[in-house]
Amino acid sequence: MTKKALLEIAHEHGTPVVVIDHDVIRANYAGFRKHLPKVQAYYAVKANPAPEIIRTLHEAGASFDVASFPEFLQVYENIKHEPAKLRQDYVWDKIIYANPIKPQETLLALDKYKPLITYDNPEELKKIKRYAPHAGLALRLRVPNTGSMVELSSKFGCEPGEASHLIQEAFRMGLVVEGLSFHVGSQCINADNYVQALNIAAAVMDEARGHGHELKILDIGGGFPVPYETQVDIFPQLASKINAEIDRHFAPDIEILAEPGRFLVATAATVVARIIGKAVRDGKRCYYINDGVYHTYSGILFDHCQYSVNAFKRGGTEICTVFGQTCDGMDTVTQSAELPKLEIDDLVYTEDIGAYSNASSTWFNGFPPAKVVHVNQ
Ligand SMILES: Cc1ncc(COP(=O)(O)O)c(C=O)c1O
Repeated sequence: MTKKALLEIAHEHGTPVVVIDHDVIRANYAGFRKHLPKVQAYYAVKANPAPEIIRTLHEAGASFDVASFPEFLQVYENIKHEPAKLRQDYVWDKIIYANPIKPQETLLALDKYKPLITYDNPEELKKIKRYAPHAGLALRLRVPNTGSMVELSSKFGCEPGEASHLIQEAFRMGLVVEGLSFHVGSQCINADNYVQALNIAAAVMDEARGHGHELKILDIGGGFPVPYETQVDIFPQLASKINAEIDRHFAPDIEILAEPGRFLVATAATVVARIIGKAVRDGKRCYYINDGVYHTYSGILFDHCQYSVNAFKRGGTEICTVFGQTCDGMDTVTQSAELPKLEIDDLVYTEDIGAYSNASSTWFNGFPPAKVVHVNQ
């Protein structure tokens, strides 16, 4: 988005305002498909659950990864009017419920949709058998998350050595395991994580075949990296490695899917905020803005993400601190913003803030989440 367009939106809608550009979402989806042509993208709704984004990605041909029953319904409501809605496989083609741990009431509610769901332990299998016996299953494997910005392997995934037992156990209970899934950790810049994960998945599939169970689906999860700020765009290179490993290990009839979240939406949003206070502390200039880490910048806390704050004004810059609007000292957006001298009511902006940002915004201190404006829908 041009600075002029951002300023116009901020003047029309007020601040803080998150501007989401749907042309960028469509371009990110097209880039994903171009570099991973055999992989169906199931957008991880948790990254940014705006219904407008779900609609844009649905029109572009995406499917969806959901983490809760409300997310499941939000997607289902947006896609259910398709003519193909009566086909059972359409639900699987369009939605995977990829949170391996599900409350009993969620399983009960999900069962009538015969959904595709993940699991990674025997206790979950017992719950599924009791409350959602009509679901199709994907076993989540624990794989290396080395160097990823957000580590997930300590919370989810069975050890590869347990996989065969968990697959056989599911079939013994009368359930059906359709495939495998894994997640290499979010913002994964280490291609080796994918290489190792694909190796592990191939070995587990071979072992399952040896026991007479042909698995049909491989879900390679999310983690696809975004070129934040000065980082180079390593996605094309990463994708070609993934393609080569998929071709090496898996027969063409295995359905490959992925759950990109950040990759599809991070670069599509910019937030514009307003300076509401100024001070000099310990000799350093400090600005207070009407947003912060409990709001659009929540990714600093929950996503381990760093953001830079930029000024619309020009001029010689100095290193400043930017604080959020709440009374909490932790509400610090950055201690190293390079900003020109700004005044109260001047506007600042942060790019690439579309993932894990407004999705985890709170009402802390009574401040509402930023307004969201969609452009090029
Ligand atoms: C199960 C699952 N799938 C997909 C994602 C999306 O990951 P990313 O945003 O790194 O693509 C996550 C993120 O936490 C996840 O837990």
